[in-house]
Amino acid sequence: MKVGVVGLGYVGLVTAAVLADKGNEVVGIDVSADRINDLNSHNLPIFEPELENRIQSAGSRLMFSTDYSYLADCSGVFICVPTPNNESGIDLSFVVAASREVSEIAPGSALIIKSTVIPGTARFIGKLTGMAVISNPEFTREGSAVHDTEHPDRIVIGGDNPDICNELWKFTGSPVIITTNENAELIKYASNAFLATKITFINQIADLCEKIPGADVKTVALGMGLDHRIGKEFLKAGLGYGGSCFPKDTIAINSFAKSKDVNLGIVDSVIRYNSERINQLVEKIVKIAGNLNGKNVCVLGLSFKDNTDDLRESRSIALIENLSKRGARIFAYDPVVKRYNGIIHMRNVEECMEKCNIVITATEWEEFSRIDPSLFKGKMVFDLRRILSINASDIAMGVGIGKD
Ligand code: UDX
Repeated sequence: MKVGVVGLGYVGLVTAAVLADKGNEVVGIDVSADRINDLNSHNLPIFEPELENRIQSAGSRLMFSTDYSYLADCSGVFICVPTPNNESGIDLSFVVAASREVSEIAPGSALIIKSTVIPGTARFIGKLTGMAVISNPEFTREGSAVHDTEHPDRIVIGGDNPDICNELWKFTGSPVIITTNENAELIKYASNAFLATKITFINQIADLCEKIPGADVKTVALGMGLDHRIGKEFLKAGLGYGGSCFPKDTIAINSFAKSKDVNLGIVDSVIRYNSERINQLVEKIVKIAGNLNGKNVCVLGLSFKDNTDDLRESRSIALIENLSKRGARIFAYDPVVKRYNGIIHMRNVEECMEKCNIVITATEWEEFSRIDPSLFKGKMVFDLRRILSINASDIAMGVGIGKD
């Protein structure tokens, strides 16, 4: 099939690469000429495991351009542009602009919306463009986006003409839910709000564990997660959720519900707790380490999660900003992110240890779990991600560890 993908960020680029790798002819469109030039010169604008392999194996089946006219004879066009929050909810202007362009060039194609949009958007875009609109939300995590796109837990397809979309994702063999546009749109928000709630719940249990000598949130989460009704995923206590989706989507569904006179009290309190989480953790650090003014502090990890270079809504950056305001000098090491203003970048963990007596883990990079514990001798260690292989008695504080 010949398909188009408009918006070549994490979602669009991965969708384009995977569909082309599976034998479709794919045209990727982006408004950024720089991004298209990068892609055409084989420079990937994002770090995402396996993406380069898929683009290479797709070969000439995948092309990139800023020119919408290449979409002319596509059977379906995916809309993967951002939907940032604004004061009144979400900003649909990119979705509207992209859909209008597609409707002029390829009015007979199916418009497949992957961008996260509030319920009612597909119907509105259908009226605006006169096109058949399919809602096909994505559930991929950055850092494993290629894997998640090829092996999704489910495919959700909303709208009256699901066939094209169904055919494109058939190779996954995953369960398919064919439903209304509105259900598809809501499934995405409800899923992300639920996952953000799960993370917040375990962070609050971690707070409780810290008050109980002998308690450890990791073991509590393990014991909970083995109950299949609860499930073990997204029960890692830490700095709270960050990234380009959860913070934005929880706020969006909350204000959408308010506009319908519905109070999503749980989501409301999740948003509030998560926004206070960093300061709450820094207060705990200060209680143990004392005034941070003028002190050298090492932060391990900068990206919002492991296996990505994405800094959007990174909890590590929020932590660094809070520590800096208190006068700390920040030395940071991240396996992938090498440039962030206002901090001193270290080449490795060893270098950090030479400069700092206070060490904080902020991103769950697997490499940190392999740090030789002897490196931390004499240091004040705050394991906010519970990633280190170190005895609880040898750290100043670990999230969710109850100490005497
Ligand atoms: C998320 C959703 O998982 C995905 O389905 C959706 O389509 C896009 O948003 P992503 O933002 O890439 O994906 O990352 P995710 O792995 O969900 O992590 C989000 C945040 O939660 C990160 O800051 C991560 O560190 C944090 N997190 C995750 C925890 O603190 N604990 C956990 O147990 C899991």
